[in-house]
Amino acid sequence: MRNADRCQYGRVAVVTGASSGIGRAVAHQLAVRGFQVYSLSRRAHMDAPAEKYSGGGTILPLACDVNDETVAAYALSRIAEENGGVFGILVNCAGYGIAGPVEETSDEDARAQMETNFFGTLRMCRLALPYLRAAGRGLILNTGSVAGFVPIPYQAHYSASKAAIDALSQALDGEIRRFGVRCVLVQPGDTRTGFTDARITAKGAGHPASLYNGSFERSISYMSKSERDGDSPEKVASAFTRLIFRRNPPPRVVAGNLLYPVTALAHRLLPARVFRRVINWIYSR
Ligand SMILES: NC(=O)c1ccc[n+]([C@@H]2O[C@H](COP(=O)([O-])OP(=O)(O)OC[C@H]3O[C@@H](n4cnc5c(N)ncnc54)[C@H](OP(=O)(O)O)[C@@H]3O)[C@@H](O)[C@H]2O)c1
Repeated sequence: MRNADRCQYGRVAVVTGASSGIGRAVAHQLAVRGFQVYSLSRRAHMDAPAEKYSGGGTILPLACDVNDETVAAYALSRIAEENGGVFGILVNCAGYGIAGPVEETSDEDARAQMETNFFGTLRMCRLALPYLRAAGRGLILNTGSVAGFVPIPYQAHYSASKAAIDALSQALDGEIRRFGVRCVLVQPGDTRTGFTDARITAKGAGHPASLYNGSFERSISYMSKSERDGDSPEKVASAFTRLIFRRNPPPRVVAGNLLYPVTALAHRLLPARVFRRVINWIYSR
């Protein structure tokens, strides 16, 4: 098993959204391999004790809402301060999903979704870059989704937030390679995490006279079942962990069972009209 000593980005990693699901599994896998992991989330307690692992790894919880510029800047500066002014790895997992027909979702709900998923990721990248550049070698892993390239009916805003992270990650990677820093997008498929229960329904959705009733509920219950039957967070996290040890990681990686690389291939090869008909049949009957 490779460990932190063999990692070109050093042994300090910051993981957002690490109180649950994929982020928590990434934090655990890295700590087992000897990394010093800072686990950021809103529910973390600043005075919670560090979890120590036998190989010298630790998980240190830090309270941080990725939507709060001041708190996020303070958290990253404190992490850097504790590690000689630098750290080499940022994994952005913080996020949630919102469901609802586009027609019935307010701009306020749509903005909130973009705020956490897109602007939260953007903020953490921007604030971390000075420390990653100073380290000389750095890696940002952003969490997209298969929904970023296969937009899902009734999850338009979530899909849009993940497509935006895709564009951000690819463009950013082109800007920061010159400093020895890379930005890679990981696109998980359905995964069994707290994500399903945390999903918010748009406030305006599902009213008794809604023309989308029936179709919307069927779609979300299908999606929830697919997530609950989906990959374990550990399986998806191992895609992140592998990237941390890759000498020259690719710009994008689809994570999860075989269905998802096959979906990505079908998306590339099939005419859009055919591909979308299948997606609409599954999610918009
Ligand atoms: N599960 C899936 O099927 C799936 C599929 C594709 C992509 N993804 C993506 O994978 C990522 C991780 O999700 P998950 O499945 O592991 O869900 P999860 O179990 O619900 O974990 C989400 C994490 O994000 C944190 N978070 C949410 N809002 C935050 C904020 N404003 N500031 C800081 N942390 C915040 C949560 O912690 P607190 O509540 O404590 O802040 C939690 O630790 C998300 O970006 C999600 O979109 C999930």
